[in-house]
Amino acid sequence: MTICAYVTFDDPDGNDDERELVLASWREAGIEGRAVRWDDPEADWSAFDAAVVRSVWDYVERRAEFVAWAHRAGSVTKLLNPAAVIEANTDKTYLRDMGVPIVPTHWSSGDFPQWDEYVVKPAISAGAKATIRTSDRAAAKAHAAKLEAEGRTPMIQPYLDMVEAEGETSLLYFNRVLSHAVRRNPMLAPGQTQADLARAELRTPAPDQLELAEKVLAEVPGDLLYARVDLVRLPDGRPVLIELELTEPYLFLSHSEAAVGNLTRALGELL
Ligand SMILES: Nc1ncnc2c1ncn2[C@@H]1O[C@H](COP(=O)(O)OP(=O)(O)O)[C@@H](O)[C@H]1O
Ligand SMILES: [Mg+2]
Repeated sequence: MTICAYVTFDDPDGNDDERELVLASWREAGIEGRAVRWDDPEADWSAFDAAVVRSVWDYVERRAEFVAWAHRAGSVTKLLNPAAVIEANTDKTYLRDMGVPIVPTHWSSGDFPQWDEYVVKPAISAGAKATIRTSDRAAAKAHAAKLEAEGRTPMIQPYLDMVEAEGETSLLYFNRVLSHAVRRNPMLAPGQTQADLARAELRTPAPDQLELAEKVLAEVPGDLLYARVDLVRLPDGRPVLIELELTEPYLFLSHSEAAVGNLTRALGELL
């Protein structure tokens, strides 16, 4: 019997709605899954054939501790995604080093760019935390300086309003094979409720998006049980990478009938 940990966090609201779906699919494939908190001091990671990192949604405030845990767990079981991937992927400065087009990004409050509208966000973040959208250049610069004063790296980008028209496209790859893709709602548009943010619709990616997503994955060596490639378009229509989610992405598994089976199959291939 194969036993895998489904790595989660101490979630008071129980809002990981993909967990039961995944565990049921594993069970059908003969994989016993157990939900375990990444920071559970009692957890014996060596007892698992693999530990699959999923809803670790509290790592942002405790990144160093989380990365240290990943290396520890990864030394006694098969951690997916691997610790080295998690270490690199939890700080968005990785975007600077990828050989693919990304959203134009300025990385400090100095030499401040001049754009119509700004997005300013920290390099270590998730769920648009500490992220602002403003057309006030001084306010944008002040937010960037505040992040720096806190010892964080700011990311300053032009606001790309196509996220409200065509929308952001997320491509889901399991063991490097495309499973499905969705169109996501704009998180920084006014009047977005929590429910709007979670909503997405299945979408067929365009050829130029597929081409870019494959290039993005080719930049990352090693086992990738799951990868979510988030793409947007510049005003001239070119697709660019906004984020590569290799740590704790929501996988939009209920949006495509085949998705959870694709994930389970990919896990079987990597075990
Ligand atoms: N430059 C941008 N232009 C338009 N929308 C943006 C921009 N940057 C971020 N957003 C919005 O904020 C969301 C979160 O930003 P993202 O960079 O993906 O960080 P994270 O998901 O880790 O918080 C995106 O999904 C998108 O909706
Ligand atoms: Mg994102």
